[in-house]
Amino acid sequence: MLPGVAQRPVRLQPRRARALVRRLLAWFAAHARDLPWRRTRDPYAIWISEIMLQQTQVKTVLPYWERWMRALPDVGAVARARSVTLHKLWEGLGYYGRVRNLQRAARRIVREHGGRVPERFEELLALPGVGRYTAGAIASIAFNQPRPVLDGNVTRVLTRLFGIAGDPREAQTRARLWALAEMLVQEAARLREWERPCSQFNQALMELGALICTPRAPKCADCPLQTACTAHRAGRPESFPARRRAAPALRKRVLVLVLAYRGRFLVRQRPPTGVNARLWEFPNVELAGSEAGAGPSRDALRRALCNGQPSDAPARRDTGPLPSTLSRLTTLQHSITRYRFTLDVYGGEISDTPPRWPGRWLSLRQLQRLPLAGAHRKILARLMLR
Ligand code: ADE
Repeated sequence: MLPGVAQRPVRLQPRRARALVRRLLAWFAAHARDLPWRRTRDPYAIWISEIMLQQTQVKTVLPYWERWMRALPDVGAVARARSVTLHKLWEGLGYYGRVRNLQRAARRIVREHGGRVPERFEELLALPGVGRYTAGAIASIAFNQPRPVLDGNVTRVLTRLFGIAGDPREAQTRARLWALAEMLVQEAARLREWERPCSQFNQALMELGALICTPRAPKCADCPLQTACTAHRAGRPESFPARRRAAPALRKRVLVLVLAYRGRFLVRQRPPTGVNARLWEFPNVELAGSEAGAGPSRDALRRALCNGQPSDAPARRDTGPLPSTLSRLTTLQHSITRYRFTLDVYGGEISDTPPRWPGRWLSLRQLQRLPLAGAHRKILARLMLR
């Protein structure tokens, strides 16, 4: 264990809390990034930013947020939008469950709250896709309520500041961190001299984690809390928060078929639940270890063309003759969470009327308008260059 590192519940004296909050607010006033969702108090705009920022970096989110707000300026517009429009606006951001929940939440807000994002914490928490963090972020940032937030950035700041050595994925440590975040934002609420102090304070905590208290090489010399920071005093800020060893990456190999018929390509839509739900893709199938290496077997082709069903499933009888001349187009690497996919992409022209494989035959122009799964967007980009 590190010297000077607390294992007991952290007691936070109000005076100390007030001093920390004041220093952080002053730092934020001077150093906050000028982000577009910080120029508005519109709870809808803030809600959208918070959903986009879940597991996604600010610089990635910026163009998506701008585009979304231009296309869908209020809750009603999201509630009415076609699914394909929402997915296209989200294409490339990943974690597509977020966009489906956004529409479910928007419809609920229209139905139950007259189209206005509710102010009450419990009502926010009841919205699909809104957990404790997001409800706290909207309640504090948009409505200046003394509700805590705890995301990755805030976790890092608090574990270092208070020398909390436990693993934040464990319930007990998380509870302590939430309690500290709550004490601090409640202290902020008492500061009469600051405008919207809860909103500013929570954003300041996040900003300190993003800009100064970074996972590697934190900029302690520039930190307004340096003299109060337990981890800094112990000389090892990077050892907080405690890390479990990362789960090993899982490698998967996938056969992808790019079949062309009269200038159109066969694509299909993924099912409404699961990874990349409702996004479009070229026919593909995961290969067993023994299938990697040589060109695609007839069995793999059949499985790819009949939506990955086993080759003895009834649907295989409908797959008709298989394309006979396929050539290797490219091999792509693509990562999602802990999966490392290698995609063997094969292409071929179909000259006779193709059998009724599941999916649709679409032109390159039509494909560009569809929301495609990440790896398949890379394949389309290559087809556009040919
Ligand atoms: N990450 C989560 N919420 C954020 C916000 N409001 N500003 C910057 N980064 C964030």
